[in-house]
Amino acid sequence: MTAQAQVTSKRDLYDQLARQLSSLLAGERDLIANAANFSSLIFQSLPHLNWAGFYFAKDGELVLGPFQGKPACVRIRVGQGVCGAGAAKCETVVVPNVHEFPGHITCDSASNSEIVVPLMKDSRLMGVLDLDSPVLGRFDEQDATGLENLLNVFLESTDLNAP
Ligand code: SME
Repeated sequence: MTAQAQVTSKRDLYDQLARQLSSLLAGERDLIANAANFSSLIFQSLPHLNWAGFYFAKDGELVLGPFQGKPACVRIRVGQGVCGAGAAKCETVVVPNVHEFPGHITCDSASNSEIVVPLMKDSRLMGVLDLDSPVLGRFDEQDATGLENLLNVFLESTDLNAP
């Protein structure tokens, strides 16, 4: 086996994570419990992260949910910052350099790149998943696809009623 072949590809890593997440959430449908374990799994498994967690949509705002990393701002208006941009568009937003993103909200000065993936149920915005990295350009289309797939596993396993 060549050295190259021994390196797990990003796609393989996300496939493996989807299986692990499915086992981790099996038998439990509580939103806070499952969001907490989701955050921990990706924070421990994906390289070069300094923050990973959820904001939930409440009354037109995003409110901090379970996460791993340094304490973060609690409320973000839809349209504000990277999280608010993802929520407003209901689309995944990949930001290679947060210092070039107008309105970026700094929670941890170590963050240099970011990805925000909307959490959608029946075409309704339920919240966003937010990942930060100290590495510039850390996130790409494979991360977007992999994280969207992980959120689908999460949605299938979790009751999204308000906590
Ligand atoms: N940077 C985000 C704020 C949340 S923290 O990164 C955890 C933003 O601009 O929306």
